[in-house]
Amino acid sequence: MFQELQAAPADAILSLIVEYKNDPRPEKIDLGVGVFKTATGETPVLEAVKEAEKRLLKGQSSKAYIGSAGAQDFNVAMSELTYADTLDADRVASLQTPGGSGSLRVAAGLIQRCGASSTVWVGEPTWANHIPLLGGAGLELKMHAYYDSNTHKLREADMLEALSKAPRGDMVLLHACCHNPSGIDPTEEQWRAIADVIVERELVPFIDMAYQGFGSDLDTDAFMIRHLAGRVEEMIVCNSCSKNFGLYRDRVGALSFLTANSKTRDIVQSQANNVVRTMYSMPPDHGAAVVSIILHDEALRAQWVEEVDEMRERIFDMRTLLVDTLRDKAPDHNFSHLAVAKGMFCFLGITAEQVEKLKKEHGVYMVNSSRINVAGITAGNVEYLASSIAAVL
Ligand code: LMR
Repeated sequence: MFQELQAAPADAILSLIVEYKNDPRPEKIDLGVGVFKTATGETPVLEAVKEAEKRLLKGQSSKAYIGSAGAQDFNVAMSELTYADTLDADRVASLQTPGGSGSLRVAAGLIQRCGASSTVWVGEPTWANHIPLLGGAGLELKMHAYYDSNTHKLREADMLEALSKAPRGDMVLLHACCHNPSGIDPTEEQWRAIADVIVERELVPFIDMAYQGFGSDLDTDAFMIRHLAGRVEEMIVCNSCSKNFGLYRDRVGALSFLTANSKTRDIVQSQANNVVRTMYSMPPDHGAAVVSIILHDEALRAQWVEEVDEMRERIFDMRTLLVDTLRDKAPDHNFSHLAVAKGMFCFLGITAEQVEKLKKEHGVYMVNSSRINVAGITAGNVEYLASSIAAVL
């Protein structure tokens, strides 16, 4: 049976982890996979997480099964973090999931059971795994314009036009904040215009929020979700705790379905639980228990918010530093767009050949599309990075 298989293509993002690790050059720079890094290049365990882990270890009295939806206290805390005062708990079904990817996959499984449209409108470009993950789960994906690589701006008119022609009942995949890969988010005014079309066309928002807190702050980054919560009957929200809690490998995510009423909520909850039961039975506990401890403890939560703020500010500073350094090293080129992007990513705006050259000749790693993880920049490597970019232009 296995002889029939061909090797799967290398993952555009994850393959860079290994390539970078195997590169012996000391001056190498990793701007590939989206993990936060400090000024000295580490991806640390957050202090709030360390403290919560201590408490968990001390207080945990059982490892018995919890259930397919995960821990209720985690689900409540994540719903509150997501919807804040727009949360209508009677209408929201929620689950703890293995990371944001697990959340997207369970959402796709639930959508398949609804017997309604399984078409999702997806902005171009999007996170490299959105299409294989959702398409592989049987959803039909239709692309609409999102990012203009010439102006480095949102293609608002094109996006609105595409959505205004979408059949009623279709879903629209939106990045709540820190658009991956472009870093270009709609402004509040643009979000409102997108919401108007969603409401008018009776589309179902399907929102991926993997970077809450990395754009502006925890509340502003959830603007579109909260704005829509009062305007639509149904919505799907996928959260990841990988970045804002730094729990990447622990696989912590959440999934919520806003439904029309409590009766539908209960049905959706039971079906979603069953999707999980038949897929992986139940989510891993440890990371979610840590998140729950943090979100339920005032002091720990404040410490965590501070750490999120620090991560966001460091990334912002590195954007500005790179733009300033590139102005010096490559004065004939305009990289000012890098400074306006939000979150971890943005496109450098160079060709795939130049990306390859950067890797081969300079040990600078980024995704083929020229998406860079800004958190990989430090005061110590920015000169080398900017000179390397200038050398391949
Ligand atoms: C990224 O886009 O680099 C991250 O979301 C990590 C991943 O799983 O792709």
